[in-house]
Amino acid sequence: MDLLENIKTNAKKFNKRIVLPEAWEERTLKAADILIEEGIAQIYLTENRDVVMREAAKYGLKNIERAVIIDPRDHPKKEEYANLMVELRKSKGMTKDEAIRLLGNPLYLATLMIKAGDADGEVAGANNSTGDVLRPAFQYVKTIPGISVVSGAFLMIMPDPQWGENGLMVFADCAVHPNPTARELAEIAVCTAQTARDIAQIEPRVALLSFSTKGSAQHEMVDKVAAATKMAQEMAPQFLFDGELQADAAIVESIGRKKCPDSPIAGRANVLVFPSLESGNIAYKLVQRLANAEAVGPVLQGMAAPINDLSRGCSVSDIVNLVAITANQAAGSF
Ligand code: ACO
Repeated sequence: MDLLENIKTNAKKFNKRIVLPEAWEERTLKAADILIEEGIAQIYLTENRDVVMREAAKYGLKNIERAVIIDPRDHPKKEEYANLMVELRKSKGMTKDEAIRLLGNPLYLATLMIKAGDADGEVAGANNSTGDVLRPAFQYVKTIPGISVVSGAFLMIMPDPQWGENGLMVFADCAVHPNPTARELAEIAVCTAQTARDIAQIEPRVALLSFSTKGSAQHEMVDKVAAATKMAQEMAPQFLFDGELQADAAIVESIGRKKCPDSPIAGRANVLVFPSLESGNIAYKLVQRLANAEAVGPVLQGMAAPINDLSRGCSVSDIVNLVAITANQAAGSF
């Protein structure tokens, strides 16, 4: 799809420094080789040089020698980063010894490189759980002002153009925050609208989903979504939000018209915000499989610097795409 090509073309202009901390891993190295060859980003690999070069030779990867390779065991700025960690986490009891130990972990090292301004973004998760990738980011990079939760959006590219914007929709939160409060759900809706505008390059029409449409059912879960919709409208009046809506009222025009004729978006939503991680994660995987959609992401939103998490089932091209998205986020390009 053109969108991904645009994202890659844009990334080339910025030449951002993106860290790949799983640099011994086959798909990561193959993606790094493509990223360097195509000039999509400057690639930083946090792994022992001998290991990287041995693995690269095994797969015949000729471009890896042009990556910046940093061994976590003897990073020249280890002391500086450890001091920064102690300063940022002293209320949590962080000691210098513990900081030095953590910096031997490429995921912590990558995060500290970003925090210290020595790199612009990170992509990991081909071989680590979401929790292991996100915890250092939450602890040291933290969220942007006004936002307290990081969440994960997917660009859903569907073969059937009748949905969303010519087949393109944005779903969230599908990846991070299990059970948001109303305020957190409102933040997720605002961040997702921004992601839709910045990265999917569509003008967002955001539906906050529930099992009820405008009071058709009464339950505290419905009240939460209705309250979140109000808060999102107050937080970001530049975007169109409506809720609570059932999924059919959100995306099918005839049903939207019937169930909520006054809604500015019902039946035409191109951004779907789910009430919990459970529903968001299940929904994106079902749409991916049953509708044969391409799911690009998760694109993490709300973080003070771009750090993105891969699924462990990712392909080489998933990594290339997510690095290109991360480079664009780092450049604040859209
Ligand atoms: N946004 C911002 N900060 C957060 C968030 C969030 N969503 N969640 C936790 N934090 C912060 C906490 O405030 C805390 O900060 P502090 O140490 O400065 O006080 C720190 O992160 C650790 O918080 P914990 O509550 O201990 O969080 P934990 O590390 O246990 O869990 C995690 C965080 C791993 C993201 C958890 O919420 C989780 O497992 N989520 C589900 C992830 C997942 O499995 N997703 C599905 C798979 S992904 C896919 O299919 C694409």
